[in-house]
Amino acid sequence: MTLEMLCSPERTGVCSAMELRRSRHHRCRESSDTKFESRGKEYNEENSRKSRSNNPLDPEEFRRQGHMVIDFIADYYKNIEKYPVLSQVEPGYLKKRLPTSAPFYPESIETILGDVQDHIVPGITHWQSPNYFAYFPSSGSIAGFLGEMLATGFNVVGFNWMSSPAATELESIVMDWLGQMLRLPKSFLFSGNGGGVLQGTTCEAILCTLVAARDRTLRIIGNDNIGKLVVYCSDQTHCAFKKAAQIAGIHPNNFRVIPTTLSTSFSMCPKALRNTITADVEAGLVPIFLLATVGTTSTTAVDPLGPLCDVAKDYGMWVHVDAAYAGSICICPEFRHFIDGVEGADSFSFNAHKWFFTTLDCCCLWVKDPSALTQSLSTDPEYLKNKATESKQVVDYKDWQLALSRRFRSLKLWLVLRSYGVEKLRGFLRSHVKMAKVFQGFVEADNRFEVVVPRNFANVCFRITPSAVMSSSTKSSNGVLGEITNSNDISSPRTKTKVGLVNEVNQKLMESINGSGGIYMTHSVVGGIYLLRFAVGATLTQESHVIEAWNVVKQHAHAILNTN
Ligand SMILES: Cc1ncc(COP(=O)(O)O)c(C=O)c1O
Repeated sequence: MTLEMLCSPERTGVCSAMELRRSRHHRCRESSDTKFESRGKEYNEENSRKSRSNNPLDPEEFRRQGHMVIDFIADYYKNIEKYPVLSQVEPGYLKKRLPTSAPFYPESIETILGDVQDHIVPGITHWQSPNYFAYFPSSGSIAGFLGEMLATGFNVVGFNWMSSPAATELESIVMDWLGQMLRLPKSFLFSGNGGGVLQGTTCEAILCTLVAARDRTLRIIGNDNIGKLVVYCSDQTHCAFKKAAQIAGIHPNNFRVIPTTLSTSFSMCPKALRNTITADVEAGLVPIFLLATVGTTSTTAVDPLGPLCDVAKDYGMWVHVDAAYAGSICICPEFRHFIDGVEGADSFSFNAHKWFFTTLDCCCLWVKDPSALTQSLSTDPEYLKNKATESKQVVDYKDWQLALSRRFRSLKLWLVLRSYGVEKLRGFLRSHVKMAKVFQGFVEADNRFEVVVPRNFANVCFRITPSAVMSSSTKSSNGVLGEITNSNDISSPRTKTKVGLVNEVNQKLMESINGSGGIYMTHSVVGGIYLLRFAVGATLTQESHVIEAWNVVKQHAHAILNTN
């Protein structure tokens, strides 16, 4: 059954089942608990017919249902542009549509997929839409999906080598492959006494490395001195670090944030870092960890790794490089310079689930000293003891991460690397950068707009210029701009500052664009400037989508500014 069939009014069996189900939903919301068991009975006959087996892992039934789900997903992709990119539902929409309790009797896959189409799809923000330009897109691919399917299909729980040798060994191999593609120093690879591990997310990668750095120091100065440990980042560092520091027991007063400015494109200043560290050391505190970012979340700023690592080295600190978004493009030789200096760091991570055609979740983390991780994260209960572990010839990845159980994530990365090869992967990434350049060109050619910070990768940070806002606001007493400038609301008065007015106009522009459902972008505020982010990276995006997106931006700006 295809999506078209599910949507088609002529749907026969499925349609009537869904209509029945709809009326059942209705009744369910009115029914009392005493009716709980009887409510599914009317469909039991149909369900028994459709569910051919009582075995939840019957191979033939899996084949039948699996093909239907693949068809469903393929049709979803065929039709994806028809949906509003940003879901238009109201909070709580789903509770109104679904029964108040789980079904007592089994339901057929046809019925369930019908409900996915009718009730779940409307509540999805379509991250894979070619018109998705928000946050950092999460680029899907056939290889990524199928690798995920294989991993889920095997459903192994590879916490240590013994529990599934292939899961562990493939992960180590793939991490060395990927490390070579990024030209990471050999000291980060297994072949050079370092090593890589697949974490779920960057949040976990940061927490694991921070805990390793914390314990490395506490082993020397004693656990009682945890209150003296200090960590460093910039005001552009992802909030994941703050959370990691809280969890790792770093005193809130010892979380140092180095301010950045527009004049240095929001990258961290090594001199400011050194001054802060020096003051801390003089105060008797102990610096342990620096988080440097290549490709910050707001503006894709790049911290200067070499000079920052030099400062950190003088104080024996651990440096982690968070390249969650931008790490992947460093497989292209012309972008590799963005991670120059990584040789001075202790760990490096990027998210393959962001911009590397691999499904969520898949964060690639390399460390120079795996023993620092394992000394902090190892567990050794009797029920996990085995000869392979005792031989010390194997990697037990449970000791490199927070959780015990772990997925066979390397399969999807392996499929992505093999299906596309380095050459095609570079080509995909470069095409996104090229499209971002096209968009940047449009912004620069229109004097109502400006690029706020230089574009490094495939994300363009732009806004309506202050002069365009001011000249329109003096002319306009009606329209959206009139509403903003003439507002009697005390919190939004006519007397608001120029900066406030410009920010508000740009916020209105973004809300107006996203409200239309045609494209989706998100914003940030840096150095007091409200900016719109146009992040190219969805796999299906083509230049025509970028051109159309610019038309949408212009139309909405025109409506707000009353210009042509
Ligand atoms: C620079 C940076 N670091 C960390 C993260 C968090 O990544 P995750 O959701 O994988 O923890 C993001 C997410 O966008 C990011 O941009």
